[in-house]
Amino acid sequence: MRVLVVGAGTMGHGIATVCATAGYNVDLVDISEDALDSAKMKIGWSLKKLEEKGGIRNAMEVLQRIRTTTNLVDASKEADFVIEAVVEKTEVKREVFKTLDDNCRPEVVLSTNTSTIPISDIASATKRADKVVGLHFFNPPVLIRFVEIVKSERTSEETLKKTIEFARSIGMDYIVVEKDVPGFVVNRINVRVLSEALRLLEHHKPEEIDAAVKYRVGMPMGVFEVADFSGIDVLCNVMNELGKRGMDLEVPRILREMIKEGRLGMKTGRGFYEYEGFYSRAKISPRFAYRVNPLKLLAPGINEAAWLLRNRVADRDSIDKAMVFGMAYPKGLLEMADDFGIDNVVKALEGKSVDPLLSSMVNEGKLGKKSGEGFYEWKYEKREFGPVLYEKRDNYVVITMNRPEKLNALNEEMWRGLNEAFIQAEKDPDVRAVIITGSGRAFCAGDDIAVMGSWKSFLDGKDFFVNVALPLLNTIANYKKPIISLVNGIAFGGGLELNLAFDIVIASEDATFSVPEGLIGAIPPIAASLGAAVVGRKMMRYCLTGDQMDAEEAKNLGIVDIVVPKDQLEIAGVEFVNKVAKLAPLSAKAIKETARAYRDLLRSVVEKGLHEIIELIPTQDFAEGMRAFVQKRRPCWRGK
Ligand code: NAI
Repeated sequence: MRVLVVGAGTMGHGIATVCATAGYNVDLVDISEDALDSAKMKIGWSLKKLEEKGGIRNAMEVLQRIRTTTNLVDASKEADFVIEAVVEKTEVKREVFKTLDDNCRPEVVLSTNTSTIPISDIASATKRADKVVGLHFFNPPVLIRFVEIVKSERTSEETLKKTIEFARSIGMDYIVVEKDVPGFVVNRINVRVLSEALRLLEHHKPEEIDAAVKYRVGMPMGVFEVADFSGIDVLCNVMNELGKRGMDLEVPRILREMIKEGRLGMKTGRGFYEYEGFYSRAKISPRFAYRVNPLKLLAPGINEAAWLLRNRVADRDSIDKAMVFGMAYPKGLLEMADDFGIDNVVKALEGKSVDPLLSSMVNEGKLGKKSGEGFYEWKYEKREFGPVLYEKRDNYVVITMNRPEKLNALNEEMWRGLNEAFIQAEKDPDVRAVIITGSGRAFCAGDDIAVMGSWKSFLDGKDFFVNVALPLLNTIANYKKPIISLVNGIAFGGGLELNLAFDIVIASEDATFSVPEGLIGAIPPIAASLGAAVVGRKMMRYCLTGDQMDAEEAKNLGIVDIVVPKDQLEIAGVEFVNKVAKLAPLSAKAIKETARAYRDLLRSVVEKGLHEIIELIPTQDFAEGMRAFVQKRRPCWRGK
């Protein structure tokens, strides 16, 4: 079988390579001899590389299957399948298709690699519109083994079938784009994400925006890295054409300015980043990752995906497959939307017109993993352990301390409820990580003073510690799954201390921390023991004064890992669930087991702390401290 590739530029030479590698004889046609010479050189180079890597056995043999010529008429006569990849100009393409139609056998399918021109505009230059179809490759075709197969209104089922068979035969995965809309699926979504990234440049550097998608969402390249790789002129052209063809889209001024300055991306050594040589990559530090909300970037893409779905341009699985195979997204865009929560997606679209599909999903409570149904269905379970809410969201659990009127203080029910919830999550084989947080304005205000004030004797307090608090502390110390804490507000006393035992602690900017127990005649047993050992001497200042610290200071001390704006707390939690879910489950378990060994080393230190507070309980000053706190007066200490 002989494949005709018309146009030997960036795409044409790659497509010819793919076809020849799959065993086809290929005619590569261009109007320019120079283009053909340069294509031959590039093909030779890339086949050599493939041979070295073991992708093909004999580069020479593959190369010999490719003929080059400037004679389109003759080449057309022998063609069994045609792929057109000439410049993106409607008139040029129509001219080429007319020649193809006049000279190819009547049954031959004519496909076009156009990115922006409607297939029907090209097909109407022929007398076989039913045999014209879009076959949209991605750059470079040798590496990105994926195509969008685009139907025009007149493309026949037979043509579609043949094109699918052909795509498969050259080792390409594919989706079918059911309607000939400008930009098809991938480019429509890409331009939305890029437009938002360009808008964010008003307040952020490219590194900050790219770091957010790379290090938080897990994209292999940042938005601006991709733009520099694709070429600013190419993108500008795509945006311009899609705008002209009815997408509400404008080419941002910055792109035009870059073109004027010759900053075309990697190919000119400068774009959004600077490049030294062909292999150099932009330097993007993970340090910048939390300056931009990555959902702000993805949400316009998700909104566009909703439009595609609602208009039946492509189905859910096709849209997700396209972004994974075509753009190397770590998972499908709609799956990510379900991860982050459709309500959060809509919030991130603030100021933009929200697709009715997304609004209706929010109204119907189809919020994604957090409600069991979004674009997909998820395993979901909701229950209560006393004042503790337990929500299984497919592969993770969210445990919420839910006594907001008491700032989620740790009374007996809360201690026990937390313990039962953690045990339940640990038993469930689906669960890869546990998130803990608080409802209302507090994470947890610590031990419930009303409970502590009711202890009359040493035994009361000891009983409480041994029977109520210790089981949870032991469960957490021995926990086999990662625990991610989202500190949403006040974390005082026990509320701070619990965080010393969690694995990843993310705090919202307005979270506050303190261990003020000394001021009411008690002590913070874990902060003074485990805290001082883990965080270091600086913990002592806070234990000895009860001073409050903000989230940044808690981060400086090492109690908190990451500080995020309040509206990103939930999103950051989801990101970390996704990160730890990538680990081999046995590795995650082994890491937790290893950490347990170090906690065991500190066991006697913690026991000392617990012993000290138990000793304090029967003292007059302990009772006085609790009374004074409730009566909102200064306590009068007697003990020396
Ligand atoms: P290019 O500019 O690198 O190559 C176009 C080639 O077409 C040139 O070698 C030119 O001499 C040749 N040509 C022009 N008129 C011709 C004619 N009448 N007959 C035969 N050859 C002719 O362009 P590139 O980037 O390869 O794009 C080609 C097509 O692929 C366009 O439709 C573009 O939208 C599409 N595309 C491009 C992608 C990219 O990343 N560059 C990605 C996917 C699709």
